[in-house]
Amino acid sequence: MPLDPVSRLVLDEAGSLPTRVLVVDDPDLANHLVDVGHDVLASCDDQRDQQRLSEGVREWGGAYVEVVLARLGKAIASLDELAAELAQRANGRPLHLVAGGRDKHLTPAMNLTLGRSFTDVHASRGRQKSRVLHASGPRRDAEQRWPKHAYVDDLGLTVVAHGGVFAGPRLDPGTRLLLRTLPSPTAALDAIDLACGSGLIAAVLARAGHRVTAVDVSAAAIASTRATLAANGLDATLFRSDGLTALADASADLIVCNPPFHLGASKDSTPAMGMLADAGRVLRAGGELWCVYNAHLPYLPTLRAAVGPTLVAARNRDFIVTRTRNAPGERLRTEPPGAAVPKLVR
Ligand SMILES: C[S@@+](CC[C@H](N)C(=O)[O-])C[C@H]1O[C@@H](n2cnc3c(N)ncnc32)[C@H](O)[C@@H]1O
Repeated sequence: MPLDPVSRLVLDEAGSLPTRVLVVDDPDLANHLVDVGHDVLASCDDQRDQQRLSEGVREWGGAYVEVVLARLGKAIASLDELAAELAQRANGRPLHLVAGGRDKHLTPAMNLTLGRSFTDVHASRGRQKSRVLHASGPRRDAEQRWPKHAYVDDLGLTVVAHGGVFAGPRLDPGTRLLLRTLPSPTAALDAIDLACGSGLIAAVLARAGHRVTAVDVSAAAIASTRATLAANGLDATLFRSDGLTALADASADLIVCNPPFHLGASKDSTPAMGMLADAGRVLRAGGELWCVYNAHLPYLPTLRAAVGPTLVAARNRDFIVTRTRNAPGERLRTEPPGAAVPKLVR
């Protein structure tokens, strides 16, 4: 696989590499370096990236590595957490981090962030709308500020968030509306928190007595959910999954989801629609999918066609909460007139 401009620039800027390198969130670069004879350790937050790593790449277990090549996303918080972790593990030994991204995702705040954990930080010249940040001189006193803990009054729960996790250590307003609307359970159900992020939905479901499975494609999200549950003395089954793909057919009574409204850097809602549509496979007949999403997103027809009858259970200026019953025989191919006339709630 040819390297894209970001990986190419990272490689060129890194100069001559030692045999062992650590590659973060860039499977193509990791695979390329293995092909040309390096001993490559890799860490990928997104499970889909991890699954693309070739056999010769070894998973990074946290050991000190002198040269680290990383792909920057938009989340400064995950860079902050990574930088502090690398600096602490270096413990005074030399370390050169070369982190690249598309120009449109890089901000001066990233240099400041790296400066908290490294003494020398500078940006490369841009090339093909890409740029690299160099950080070296890991600080012995680098402070790890992640994961962050906070108490969420609305829910009476502690949330724990690693860097880059959606909404950080806070309750997202869409999730708040969803959790406020969810009825109290009358029985313990097999429940899934789909795309769990920091795990507040999983925690609410577990506290209500359900048998909970929480999945997310991001390792940071799974780690956060694990920590959120532990902080509240709760328990659930957790694993990384691309949507519901790792879940068996007809294995759940309830799925609760605040879906991603974009994939990576793009604002494409198609992947989220596919993820929600798959609920028709994973729910038992009569099981329910509860979702919250931005009011302008066109999910209602998909829910009605792929899962079953869907009601708008709550709505405010920004979000819609939908309740969908899995009913294969009642799936609609076309929208009934006036199907979505939701009630506004504050
Ligand atoms: C809007 S956030 C919701 C997080 C959390 N449930 C909450 O309410 O705060 C969406 C989550 O979807 C996850 N995600 C994105 N793509 C995914 C995929 N293909 N499969 C599973 N999770 C995904 C993201 O990592 C993120 O945690």
